[in-house]
Amino acid sequence: MADTVTITDNRTGESIEIPIVDGGVAASEWRRLLPDIWFYDPAFVQTAGCASSITLVDGEQGILRYRGYPIEQLAEKSNFLEVAYLLLFGELPAAAELDEWTHNITHHTFIHENMRKRFLEGFHYDAHPMGMLVSAVAALSTFYPEAKQIFDPDSRKKQIVRLIAKMPTLAAAAHRFHVGMPFVYPDNSLDFASNFLSMMWKTAEPRYAANPALAHAIDVLFILHADHEQNCSTTAMRVVGSSHADPYSACAAAASALYGPRHGGANEAVVQMLLEIGHIDNVDAYIRRVKAGEVRLQGFGHRVYKSYDPRAKIIKRVADEVFAVTGVNHLLDIALKLEEVALSDDYFLSRKLYPNVDFYSGLIYQAMGFPINMFPVLFAIPRTAGWLAHWKELLDQDSKISRPRQLYVGHPERDYLPLSERGA
Ligand code: CMC
Repeated sequence: MADTVTITDNRTGESIEIPIVDGGVAASEWRRLLPDIWFYDPAFVQTAGCASSITLVDGEQGILRYRGYPIEQLAEKSNFLEVAYLLLFGELPAAAELDEWTHNITHHTFIHENMRKRFLEGFHYDAHPMGMLVSAVAALSTFYPEAKQIFDPDSRKKQIVRLIAKMPTLAAAAHRFHVGMPFVYPDNSLDFASNFLSMMWKTAEPRYAANPALAHAIDVLFILHADHEQNCSTTAMRVVGSSHADPYSACAAAASALYGPRHGGANEAVVQMLLEIGHIDNVDAYIRRVKAGEVRLQGFGHRVYKSYDPRAKIIKRVADEVFAVTGVNHLLDIALKLEEVALSDDYFLSRKLYPNVDFYSGLIYQAMGFPINMFPVLFAIPRTAGWLAHWKELLDQDSKISRPRQLYVGHPERDYLPLSERGA
């Protein structure tokens, strides 16, 4: 049996045979037969926008791999900076490469004083930290004008290092401003996760010593969130990157996409939902509202995963480690009950709705003391590695500028009406 599909234009009787390659059929082949007939695919449900060798998500089997390595192994054995290297450069680093990479990231964590004093401190006192982060990332491009040299390998690598290194600094700075605490400078003697926790929580002590279990939990969460192939924010990164904008501007677009409650804002929405439910006795009533279509069960369902999200399984284990230090989040009982009720209800099973990465991550963050409005920010820090890996791949592929077509369904041509001739 041939690995092809045959398409026939019934208006003309002409046919074309198209090979199926890597699980897809090339639109360029389709165009040979039907140059003016567009695929109508809002939200790209059935469209592969690129070929990528970074991350594999198999939604039916519940598999997630970065560069071929199962997420379970990476979460257990690796650390975030090594995973970032793997995503960006395709292979696990040798010892000397990892040392150099870690050193470079560690020594690019500082931000320009104007960024902190003038830019971040210019926000309104109650600015949402994610809004601050999005704007700050875009503003970074003005500090590094050479970032426009996207085909210069040295400049490209430098901007990648800067972005990964400075995200935690900007994130913590946004939080400190929001709560009226002084900015904490990065500490180069700390690892990536511990340094972030120091910038978040340090008060009067000369040196902040993060609890190792909590620093490890943050590092694992960063690994789990580092990439997820062509999700909404990564698509934004690729689309903006395809115009050859600098990486800071493209990352700001990606971070904006991540801000929405359907994407990176979902863990915030989960905690809000659990607070609204308030007690396990109210779970059944809430599930009835979900089934009536009044509300969505936040943290459930995924465009790609049609079984348990493998990240959610790992996060459940991390939650136990965190709660052993912080005490159990009182919302956990409600979450467990929700999961139990949903996973025994045909509404969810028939639609293949299972807990996703966000169902438990918010509970962990909350137990660690992160305010809810920091949740999307916590997602953006590690996802920056994934965004940049896709941006780099896109440039290496010499991709065309993203420019989809539309099915025009508006008015045919009509004449302009002067104001006096228009109705009320
Ligand atoms: N609660 C209740 N019903 C749902 C939910 C939900 N969370 N998600 C999907 N459905 C139903 C939906 O109503 C529809 O039912 P029907 O066929 O009767 O109309 C069916 O399931 C298919 O839903 P869909 O909206 O077509 O699915 P989608 O692929 O467009 O949406 C999603 C994916 C993640 C936006 C959606 O599942 C959702 O809104 N979930 C809650 C928000 C959330 O947890 N987002 C985090 C995603 S994971 C983080 C990330 O990778 O960004």
